[in-house]
Amino acid sequence: KQTENQILIIFGASGDLTKRKLIPALFELYKRKMLPEKFAVLGASRSQLSDEEFRLRADEFLDDHESLEDFKKMLFYQSVQNDTADDFIPLKNRLDEIADAGSIEKNYVFYLSTPPSLYSVIPKLLCKNGLSKSDQFFRRLIVEKPFGTDLESAQELNVQLLNYFEEEQIYRIDHYLGKETVQNMLVTRFSNGIFEPLWNRRYIERVEITSAESLGVESRGGYYDHSGALRDMVQNHLLQVTGFVAMEPPVVVEADAIRNEILKVFQSFRPIRENEVSKYVIRGQYTASTIGGKQIAGYREEEGVDRLSRTETFIALKFFIDNWRWAGVPFLIRTGKKLPTRVTEIVITFRKVPHHLFGNNNDQHSHNQMIIRIQPDEGILLKFGMKTPGAGFNVQTVNMDFHYSDLTNTTVPAAYERLLLDCMIGDATLYARGDAVEQAWKFVQPIINAWQTNPEIPIYGYPAGTWGPEEAERLIPNGSWRYPCKN
Ligand code: BG6
Repeated sequence: KQTENQILIIFGASGDLTKRKLIPALFELYKRKMLPEKFAVLGASRSQLSDEEFRLRADEFLDDHESLEDFKKMLFYQSVQNDTADDFIPLKNRLDEIADAGSIEKNYVFYLSTPPSLYSVIPKLLCKNGLSKSDQFFRRLIVEKPFGTDLESAQELNVQLLNYFEEEQIYRIDHYLGKETVQNMLVTRFSNGIFEPLWNRRYIERVEITSAESLGVESRGGYYDHSGALRDMVQNHLLQVTGFVAMEPPVVVEADAIRNEILKVFQSFRPIRENEVSKYVIRGQYTASTIGGKQIAGYREEEGVDRLSRTETFIALKFFIDNWRWAGVPFLIRTGKKLPTRVTEIVITFRKVPHHLFGNNNDQHSHNQMIIRIQPDEGILLKFGMKTPGAGFNVQTVNMDFHYSDLTNTTVPAAYERLLLDCMIGDATLYARGDAVEQAWKFVQPIINAWQTNPEIPIYGYPAGTWGPEEAERLIPNGSWRYPCKN
């Protein structure tokens, strides 16, 4: 599709996300000549900054490329207050001015990268100033996470947004959907004759999705302590990834067709009831440890974190998708901070052969695993059994391994590049739809409730730098999680 000329307005422009992710993503798009011919970025937040100061800040995360100065000329800044409708008049005037000066059509994409308390305020002020709709131009709204903090607040937020914008104008960002490797799930599954016939309960024993981070909460303790791994990673990113792994083939590769299939997966999740939470969900929190002679602080010692915090920095859960394809197949999700490495991967474990012909012990195991490495070292690894050369018929497991890095002349675009571009084009396929977001909250809500009301549900400590509490193993009675550093 054609990228029409437009202006991107970033609310929360003095924040971290803008300088670390959004501006660098825009610069990449600029270098690759993928931005609209006439384009501008207007940063907006409460801070008093000049255009020049905003451009200087942007510099920090941009590489020194010959086109840097030209790119920076497209960046503008406007300080705004968010109290009354009149507070947005300067913003509106500034937009007119930038559009007129650059002969840019008044197509606007508003990006909410502010504290969530402003998510319903800003759309209202935009609406009151006539900026949310136009007969002539498009108006879109990107909403960053967190999209609510529980089911009720997510529903409330959807209602609020829909007071001022139509669903088609709203783009709820989930940056995991912008990852090339997540999208490739669809191509792997639906463009190959050899995988999809096996992609069901008859041939698959279990599905694991692991997203491990070696970093801790860094400077985000204040936010994270009110969130925790369930809200921060599972409700959004990892359930969306599950949607891609488990969905039925969409009728066409279009936003609604794909998003309908994701919703159906979420609707088929077997609810985990409050009284079953300790059986299906394990939570943990990292404690102080020493790694390579270095003292690592425990979570409760981190800045912004309550000294008696019971917020989980690790979660592992098991659940089922009650539909024709997946009946009885456990889905396992695991994520945590301060684990031994940074890796996100999907592990499909296929069932064992029905009869063991070969004598050695190895023959009893399933050799067949497909590991889709979402990041880093993006790629796909297929494990299968092979005869150990020499006498007898001994079987060993070997790898077939594809790495994206082996593709020459190809760069894997960063998630924000892809998503920003999609919104500019008007393609919402890789954005979460309101009904699916609510459905995902419906699934996690009993877990939140049980943790809140039942202090007897343990939160296990795990030393920073380990794979989380050992209790997570109990979720897979006849097997074990894959530990990516080891194999
Ligand atoms: C964010 C979470 O949404 O995703 C962070 O708030 C987390 O806590 C991050 O670190 C992980 O993203 P990525 O792309 O680094 O896997």
